[in-house]
Amino acid sequence: MEDRVLSGGSTEFDIGFEQSLRPQLLREYIGQSQVKDNLSIFIEAARGRSESLDHVLLYGPPGLGKTTLAAVIANEMNVNLKTTSGPAIERPGDLAAVVSSLEPGDVLFIDEIHRLNRAIEEVLYPAMEDFCLDIVVGKGPEARSIRLDLPPFTLIGATTRAGSLSAPLRDRFGVPLRLEYYEIEPLKEIVIRSADVFDVKIDEEAAIELAKRSRGTPRIANRLLKRVRDYAQVRGDGKINFAIAQEALEMLQVDSHGLDHIDHKLLTSMIEQFRGGPVGIDTIAASIGEESITIEDVYEPYLLQIGFLQRTPRGRIVTHDAYAHFGYPIPESPRN
Ligand SMILES: Nc1ncnc2c1ncn2[C@@H]1O[C@H](COP(=O)(O)OP(=O)(O)O)[C@@H](O)[C@H]1O
Ligand SMILES: [Mg+2]
Repeated sequence: MEDRVLSGGSTEFDIGFEQSLRPQLLREYIGQSQVKDNLSIFIEAARGRSESLDHVLLYGPPGLGKTTLAAVIANEMNVNLKTTSGPAIERPGDLAAVVSSLEPGDVLFIDEIHRLNRAIEEVLYPAMEDFCLDIVVGKGPEARSIRLDLPPFTLIGATTRAGSLSAPLRDRFGVPLRLEYYEIEPLKEIVIRSADVFDVKIDEEAAIELAKRSRGTPRIANRLLKRVRDYAQVRGDGKINFAIAQEALEMLQVDSHGLDHIDHKLLTSMIEQFRGGPVGIDTIAASIGEESITIEDVYEPYLLQIGFLQRTPRGRIVTHDAYAHFGYPIPESPRN
C-alpha cells in the first residue's frame, strides 16, 4: 500500500507517539457512546459477580480505537492484558503458550483475529467455551490428546473484517461491538486532548478543521495534528490557529472532505473510464494499481460512509455528490 497521511492503518512511525495518546479508562475514551454504554454495563456486572468478562469482538475500520479499547477494558476490569495477533500464532503450541500464562480474569487480546488459521481456531473453541485446551502430544500411534484446564479469561478479538471471521468463531463472542466512524465533535475533542498531551496550543476552530479532514478516524486526526504542529512551529509561532491549520492541510493535500490523491484517483477514474459505474472492485483495483483488498478495507469504507460511493450487486457506483465535489457535470440519464 502506498504510504499516505490519510491511511487509517498504523505505520512504524505511529507506534511510539500513539502509545502516549491512548486513553486508559472508559470515561477518557472519547465518542462511541453506544459501545461504551454497553461495555460499562457488562463490565460492572462481571465485576459485581467477580467473574471474567464475556469474550468481546471489536470490529471496524483501522484507526478507530480497537487496540485502545482492549487496553481500556483490561484496565477497567483491573486485570492483566496479554497481546498477540492472528498471524503471530502459527501452531497450536503457540496458542497454548499464551493462554497457559494467563491468570484468572486476564484479558487475551488477539489483533487481526480473522487471520488465525483453522487449526488454531479448533483449539480456541474449547478454550473460549469451557476454559480448557485439548492438545495432542506425541506422534503416530503414540499420539494422545491431553486436556489442560485454563483459568477463566476474556478473549478480546479485533478485526477490520468481521465478514472474514468463520461463523463458529464469531458465534463464540458474547459481546460483539462494532466501532463506527467518529463524528466531528468527538474527533475535535480527541484533537484537543492530544494537543494537550503534546503540550501544543490549538484554537477550537483549528481543531474542528482537523476533525473535519480526518475521515472520521482518531488515528488520522492525531497524525494530522502532528504534521500541523510541525508546520506551526516552523512557519508560525508554534500555536495552531485556523489559518495555520488550513495552510498546513493544503500543503498535505488533504481536501475539505478529508480525501487525498488516492481517493481522487479512485473516484475520478471511475467517472472518466467507467461513466461512474457500476464497476467491479477488481476492475477498479486494476485501473488504479491498488489491491482489491486494500480498497475494500481502507479506502472504500469512508467513501461509502460519506455517500460518495455506493455498493450494488453489479458493482460500485459513484454518486452525484461525488460528481459535484470533483466539479464534474452530473450525468442526466439514469444509469443502465
Ligand atoms: N475513543 C478514542 N479517544 C481518544 N483517542 C482515541 C480513541 N480511539 C482511538 N484513539 C487514538 O487513535 C489511535 C489509534 O487507535 P487504535 O486503538 O490503535 O486503533 P485500531 O486498533 O482500531 O487501529 C491511538 O493513538 C489512540 O490514542
Ligand atoms: Mg489496532
